Amino acid sequence: MAFEPTERLHLGAEAEVWAGTWMGVDAVRKLRRPRKWRHPDLDHRLGHRRMMSESRLLIRLKRSGVRVPAVLDLDPENGRMILERMPGLPLIEVLRDSTQSASFIATALSNTGRLIRRLHREAITHGDLSTNNILVDENGDVSLIDFGLAAIDYEIERFGIDLHVIDEILGASHPEHEDAIETLLEGYAAEEANLGAAPEQSGGAVPTAAEVLKRLDEVRSRVRYHG
Ligand SMILES: Nc1ncnc2c1ncn2[C@@H]1O[C@H](COP(=O)(O)OP(=O)(O)OP(=O)(O)O)[C@@H](O)[C@H]1O
Ligand SMILES: [Mg+2]
Repeated sequence: MAFEPTERLHLGAEAEVWAGTWMGVDAVRKLRRPRKWRHPDLDHRLGHRRMMSESRLLIRLKRSGVRVPAVLDLDPENGRMILERMPGLPLIEVLRDSTQSASFIATALSNTGRLIRRLHREAITHGDLSTNNILVDENGDVSLIDFGLAAIDYEIERFGIDLHVIDEILGASHPEHEDAIETLLEGYAAEEANLGAAPEQSGGAVPTAAEVLKRLDEVRSRVRYHG
């Protein structure tokens, strides 16, 4: 693979990510790390499957105009994927940066909600909507990354859970941004108002924004009730 690494961006339990260039364009290389506690054959099979699924969904979303990285090259056998490098910083860092203006933060959160709705309209749930997997550029434009746990979905529950994950993280990790989740959810609803009803997908009708927001409320009260 013609990837020239420049700096390591991330070393996690699942993946090592390097920034660099690929055929002259800004790119990242995502390298799957072996899970030592798992049997090597099983680990290889699961890793292969997850990387195939991640790249398949990224290609599908890119084609639909959702802001996600393009897949530039893929070597699932060796657990390597080359992706377009998306601009910006993870939302977690933007929210922690006290020099950011309130209006910039509100724009970033609203755009995040809009983008999540764009994703959901394609009948895809993310599965890991943490503030590390949302990148915000200097204009407040947003992209989504890390589709290793994403799936094609028609059941409303996983759509509601997507919103609940980000809801919990904003509440627990960024309590100083009190209205964060409201701003995000307003963006989620506004995108639907803007685009109209989602077109039917190959597996049927996608839950509407209103239905997903209602499910979020139900998930919240379930969690409150059961602790
Ligand atoms: N396409 C991209 N453009 C820019 N930065 C990226 C891109 N992909 C990944 N990164 C950076 O690398 C980090 C880790 O990537 P990613 O979220 O895909 O891995 P991960 O599956 O969460 O890994 P782990 O589970 O080991 O933490 C991201 O939080 C982001 O900072
Ligand atoms: Mg991640």
